[in-house]
Amino acid sequence: MVADECECLLERRALRALPEQYHQASLSDFPEETLREIYAWAADPRQGLVVFGLAGRGKTYLAAAICRSMILIRKRALFRRAFQFFSEARHALSSSEEETVFANYTTPHYLLLDDLEIGHSDFERRFLLELIDRQLGHLRPTCITTNLTLAQIGQQLDERVGSRLSEFRWIHLDGPDLRQFPKTDSPMIIEITDQMRTKVAGEIAEFCGVGAQP
Ligand SMILES: Nc1ncnc2c1ncn2[C@@H]1O[C@H](COP(=O)(O)OP(=O)(O)O)[C@@H](O)[C@H]1O
Ligand SMILES: [Mg+2]
Repeated sequence: MVADECECLLERRALRALPEQYHQASLSDFPEETLREIYAWAADPRQGLVVFGLAGRGKTYLAAAICRSMILIRKRALFRRAFQFFSEARHALSSSEEETVFANYTTPHYLLLDDLEIGHSDFERRFLLELIDRQLGHLRPTCITTNLTLAQIGQQLDERVGSRLSEFRWIHLDGPDLRQFPKTDSPMIIEITDQMRTKVAGEIAEFCGVGAQP
């Protein structure tokens, strides 16, 4: 009875930690090969994790599922969009509250920073570098999702951030854009799969020049 109540509390805590769209996110929704990589990382998460892939491949969903799992096993985890972090960083600069922001982001044991992009000011890049270094310094696990490659991070975001992330474990999520072709067990999947096949066949034909003849 007490155990049930505890689990219920943890479940509620997990829901509060996540954007509503990802409340259902669960590791059980991922294929075995992805889970194997997650478990390998979870065995020593201090190394850090980058979830990388094009838009709609399930990066945020995976980060949310990891966050939820961590909370359910009674770990402190914080899920935040990188956009929000940078926005708080800018606000902190004008109000001299940098340490408050760092404390908020580094106190929970696990930090999941969603959707790292390029296009930041020098100050924002230094703030991100400081956050990563504090997490690494305290041996606290950080998971970052991005659609940038390591080379793009190093060249277009920040060389020092790229260098830190090169030592993280990287998981590549590929497959179709799940926004266009949602995962579903309903009969719709047959229709979607056919649709996908036609689209891919069209792209291959175009690439090979088939059909380009008059
Ligand atoms: N493993 C999954 N099982 C079920 N739905 C998923 C899964 N991964 C992603 N989705 C859904 O697919 C859509 C795109 O996923 P999202 O994580 O937002 O992609 P990304 O962050 O890579 O752009 C969302 O609606 C999400 O709920
Ligand atoms: Mg995303």
